[in-house]
Amino acid sequence: MERVIWNGVPWFDRDGNVVNAHGACIVREGDVYYLFGEYKTNDENRYNGFSCYSTRDFEDWKFEGMALSAEAGGLLGPGRIGERVKVVKSAVTGKYVMLMHTDDLNYSDPCIGVAVCDTINGSYTFAGPLLYKGEKVRKWDMGTFVDEDGTAYLLTHEGNIYRLNAECTEAEELVAENIAPGGESPAMCRYGGKYYIMFSQKTSWERNDNYYLTADNIAGPWVMKGLFCPEGSLTYNTQCSYIFDCQTAEGSIKMYLGDRWSYPRQASAATLVMLPLAFEGGNMRISRYMQAWRPADGSEWREPCIRPLAFCSDVKGEGRQAEFCVSGGRVYLFGAASDEGGYCRVEIRNSEGRAVNEAVIDFYSAVPMKGLRYVSPELKSGEYTLCVTALGESGEWFQKDGTRFGSKGRRVDIYGFAAELDSIEKDC
Ligand code: DGJ
Repeated sequence: MERVIWNGVPWFDRDGNVVNAHGACIVREGDVYYLFGEYKTNDENRYNGFSCYSTRDFEDWKFEGMALSAEAGGLLGPGRIGERVKVVKSAVTGKYVMLMHTDDLNYSDPCIGVAVCDTINGSYTFAGPLLYKGEKVRKWDMGTFVDEDGTAYLLTHEGNIYRLNAECTEAEELVAENIAPGGESPAMCRYGGKYYIMFSQKTSWERNDNYYLTADNIAGPWVMKGLFCPEGSLTYNTQCSYIFDCQTAEGSIKMYLGDRWSYPRQASAATLVMLPLAFEGGNMRISRYMQAWRPADGSEWREPCIRPLAFCSDVKGEGRQAEFCVSGGRVYLFGAASDEGGYCRVEIRNSEGRAVNEAVIDFYSAVPMKGLRYVSPELKSGEYTLCVTALGESGEWFQKDGTRFGSKGRRVDIYGFAAELDSIEKDC
């Protein structure tokens, strides 16, 4: 079956649990892709471990386990932040090295940490802070880049690039400094002999228009190129996180991986977005947003015939149900997300009334977006009920200086759903 990447909706692993991996990276080994990310909680922002999932097609996700769990103390101990996990393989030792941002809960003690493992999907051992000239690297947002010759680099906010040692456990040389003042969440790739590095601006968990720079040499000079998504789309409502090589029937493409954060319900409602990057004449862009597409040939998924299911509420507990049948397929929920959006619980109940899948969906979007809000895992043939319930809550968060971001309302706005065979709509 042709596999589809579902953007901006929760993904589910083989056990039906939401894929909980944010600020992530994807590392390829043979034809398996490993996703490492922040294993978020739904209530607070402390470090809760880094998860590892594997896939061959970006749709069937296997939970490999926690790559690194919370430590008893130290940089990743209780009351600490652990973010933006990235994994590189040392060309010399063959070991897998995990780098991450560690911090206190106020983000006032930033430091890059290191963990090591013999296997990509094993349990990583935390080794302590990454050192540069014997000192901790006091940076927060970070990323990694591995060049064609196997040399690995640490990228940091504001645009520092450090070459790592051959073991990837220390920063050996600061090759570029402060190339993107005010930039966060760096991600980098090399295409056609040029280096491309992208950054977000600093707006906490809020989306903004991300931008990029290019250089012929990793040490610079770096040239500011501007946005790689349409201005005002806020990077299609995402924050850049990573770029990786993805094999398709048409060859290798550079894939953009971004976060659509949903503070505080990051565990269940924050989602990932993957889109192909296009390069032409030294420019990089994501030409258009696709809510769902097939990585095998780059084609966009076409929406099926949508059955009306009108529900708009910001009242906690109000809901709507629809009965439907499937013969081994999915059910899709469509809605409108806006800057007044809130949270909604979606539940799929089987004919015995047992929930076979559930998720919390965010209807907040700084730039309004209509379309898919939920895609169920493949359901066994049978009769089901789709239940949506407004939670009467929405995401909000504050920047260090107290600036508030997030939703102005709590609205859940659904207009339809699609599943196989007949459906009967009814009120809760
Ligand atoms: C923006 C960063 O990119 C995120 O990783 C996270 O640290 C948030 N700030 C916290 O507000």
